[in-house]
Amino acid sequence: MAELIVAFDMPSGRDALLLAARLPGLKWAKLGPVLFVREGPPVIKEFRQRGIQVFLDFKWHDIPTIVAKAVTAARELGVSMATVHCLGGRAMLGAAARAAGQDLALVGVTVLTSHDAAELESVLGRGVPDVGFEAERLARAAIQAGLRGVVASGQELGLLREALGPEPWIVVPGIRSNGEPAGDQMRTISPADAVRRGATHLVVGRPITGASDPAAAYRQLVEALG
Ligand code: C5P
Repeated sequence: MAELIVAFDMPSGRDALLLAARLPGLKWAKLGPVLFVREGPPVIKEFRQRGIQVFLDFKWHDIPTIVAKAVTAARELGVSMATVHCLGGRAMLGAAARAAGQDLALVGVTVLTSHDAAELESVLGRGVPDVGFEAERLARAAIQAGLRGVVASGQELGLLREALGPEPWIVVPGIRSNGEPAGDQMRTISPADAVRRGATHLVVGRPITGASDPAAAYRQLVEALG
């Protein structure tokens, strides 16, 4: 069964923890720059003490030594999942995977959901006939380097599940039920479709954190994952 990850993209640790307390059975909290840059490691500890696993989403992309040290620090803080960017290259991915060991699941971001073919062409400096092909190429590199899985939009999900086989985790953001506002997400997918196409983890932020009744929105999603 796919697992639900709630993205706590708010500036206050206190608000994040108050919200988490309203979501019974929550297994995963995704913490990124919005919260972590303000609150730092203590907020990770607070989530851990409540039995909630932390997914630290910084999409690291730097020289191998630096990324390996960042991954080690995350592992030592008790982080259970973290992201690196596949464009960091094979040496960086390998160093990060070795630093993660068995305790931390490292997942690779392939192509940002804010990039379309034209934007990716301007970044890479060459023609990109197919974004899916680029995502698949990078995803294979991530798994070959020893990562536990990848982050993918609903659009590439089916393609990547077929290319990678059944084992790797595929973490999917941009989850929206029918009629929910997409916000700045370009490629959205419903929870049921994401599960059907092979997602192992669904990342949901604003549909829960911005709902008038976050607990009800959370409950509905848990039920949809069944
Ligand atoms: O609020 P919403 O449900 O759109 O939140 C999506 C979360 O997933 C955000 O925390 C965002 O950083 C993250 N994410 C994403 N697209 C990616 C990788 C991560 O939207 N490619």
